[in-house]
Amino acid sequence: MPKTSTSPFLLLSLIITTCIAHAAGDTWQEPEEVQQPAAAIFPGEWQLLHANTGVSAMHMQLLPGDFVLMFDRTDSGPSNISLDALSPCVSRAAADCTAHSVLLDLRSNTLRPYPLATNPWCSSAALLPNGTLLQTGGFSNGDRIARLFSPSDGWLDLPDFLAVRRWYATDILLADGRVLILGGRRQFNFEFFPRDDVTTAQLTLFPFLEETTDIDGENNLYPFLHLLPDGNVFAFANDRAVVFDPYNRAPLRRLPSIPGGVPRNYPSSGSSVLLPLRPEYSPSHAEVLVCGGAPRGAYRLALRNGTFVAADRTCGRIAPTDPNPVWAMEEMPVPRVMGDMVLLPTGDVLIVNGAAAGTAGWELGREAVTSPVLYSPETPLGDRFVVLAGSGVPRMYHSSATLDTMGRVLVGGSNPHVGYVFDNVTYPTELSLEAFLPPYLDARLDGVRPRIVAAPVEAGYGEVVHVRFEVPGGAVSGGPEEVRVAAVAPAFATHSFGMNQRVVFLAVGNVVQLDAGGGVYEAQVAAPPSPSVAPPGYYLWFVLHAGVPSSAAAWVRIRPLGAAT
Ligand SMILES: *[C@@H]1O[C@H](CO)[C@@H](O)[C@H](O)[C@H]1NC(C)=O
Ligand SMILES: *[C@@H]1O[C@H](CO)[C@@H](O)[C@H](O)[C@H]1NC(C)=O
Ligand SMILES: *[C@@H]1O[C@H](CO)[C@@H](O)[C@H](O)[C@H]1NC(C)=O
Ligand SMILES: *[C@@H]1O[C@H](CO)[C@@H](O)[C@H](O)[C@H]1NC(C)=O
Repeated sequence: MPKTSTSPFLLLSLIITTCIAHAAGDTWQEPEEVQQPAAAIFPGEWQLLHANTGVSAMHMQLLPGDFVLMFDRTDSGPSNISLDALSPCVSRAAADCTAHSVLLDLRSNTLRPYPLATNPWCSSAALLPNGTLLQTGGFSNGDRIARLFSPSDGWLDLPDFLAVRRWYATDILLADGRVLILGGRRQFNFEFFPRDDVTTAQLTLFPFLEETTDIDGENNLYPFLHLLPDGNVFAFANDRAVVFDPYNRAPLRRLPSIPGGVPRNYPSSGSSVLLPLRPEYSPSHAEVLVCGGAPRGAYRLALRNGTFVAADRTCGRIAPTDPNPVWAMEEMPVPRVMGDMVLLPTGDVLIVNGAAAGTAGWELGREAVTSPVLYSPETPLGDRFVVLAGSGVPRMYHSSATLDTMGRVLVGGSNPHVGYVFDNVTYPTELSLEAFLPPYLDARLDGVRPRIVAAPVEAGYGEVVHVRFEVPGGAVSGGPEEVRVAAVAPAFATHSFGMNQRVVFLAVGNVVQLDAGGGVYEAQVAAPPSPSVAPPGYYLWFVLHAGVPSSAAAWVRIRPLGAAT
């Protein structure tokens, strides 16, 4: 097991103990007061960034340059934000002439509407290696469209790009920089962006998705896909998992089914992450975590019978790269369906949003769970979960969550209705955007929190680069083990799954202090070793000092293999 760096909480209790000790030196105190317990763990904090972003954030993606794209379907009636006077009203579906996509500029916290020509309802996406967002599929006039989005050019439709209609598909960026586009309702196949060369068929059949379709409610939509560090792809649908090689279209390797038989994919929506990859691990070792879901039959009972059964509270953890992988099961403090799992720069996982009863789908969720839980993968079994501060806002079906450049978790969306409904319903359409500040954003840790002063704009695989940072307290001690660097790939969040979400800890070499008195340091950092560990493209690099992530991340682009410097 890898050595874990000092936890921020341990550090916090040390600081508090030190302060008390200092105070005790000046004035006489009762010994009992000196021995009072350290303050409780900071349970996190919720901040309202916008009461009304204009659209309900069914889909959310952090983009390089510190923008967050949020978009909804175009066929549910007017949104709450008008298009710019200069933007033509392009959409037939959106003849209401309101905007169904908005871009948040994180630096100014301002919103800008963008016109969407076709309907991206329940679609999929992946950030391309060049920083442009590829978004695929949707409904009606949007179901075979691939779209490109950049803040400067807005949306560009590539009509008829997809070989088939894709609604509820999953996209992931592969090691070779292509995007795998897999599944969707009644689609048991995959294809690529860019397209394969024209001599091979555009579609590859993937019968695993047919096998995992439940008669009632399917329970295998938005399959969980993770790129493994050996280059293969892990796919999870319903309660089953396989590993396959999409490049050579080789046969699947079947993994055991997750114990318990509970489906984990839409509409029994649980969530899943690839746990952080660490340089201490053997190069091909990876683990996947799957949490929450709803029992088989829950969708039918909610839809047809008005019975909302309790969500599942289990998580399963497996190392698909092992020769004989097995699921290790554990229990969350609260059951949850429609939770979003967000990887944090500390390597922990935040599980946020969702409900304790019912399923995904219009009007089918009950008992909102507004308290996130934190899962620490390196902590011994039984002690991994902590319940954090709750939000006042239920986030049910069609909500989303993503990490931002400041290490906050942005939480938006929630609209379990056909259109926008604000009154006389238990769970009104949510147009607000909140930021959840995880425990490491505790202001009491500001003295040890690093601030990145200089980082490379890009790096090649395995290249050793320098990252310069400052620690206000000037407290770096103990050498490189106190300093870590996490590379975080920004996810496309929708329907309780963050596509392409990834945390890769980078190998840190020498850390040298640059100024005698102050707190400026420079660390030697090795860029990810291979495109299977980290596919090419944009990553947020956070420096961690004593377990506390930097106040902001630097965007670093990992160049594709063979690209000119
Ligand atoms: C959204 O727009 C509707 C219709 O104009 C209005 O009634 C409602 O108050 C708005 N909601 C918010 C949260 O701004
Ligand atoms: C990024 O790549 C896509 C796909 O090749 C291309 O269409 C797009 O124009 C590129 N964007 C930039 C900014 O170069
Ligand atoms: C269906 O709902 C009724 C009440 O409306 C309840 O009595 C019955 O147990 C439910 N069926 C199941 C299988 O839960
Ligand atoms: C509120 O909802 C109830 C139940 O759906 C309905 O009977 C009632 O008419 C609604 N009230 C208003 C003011 O829309």
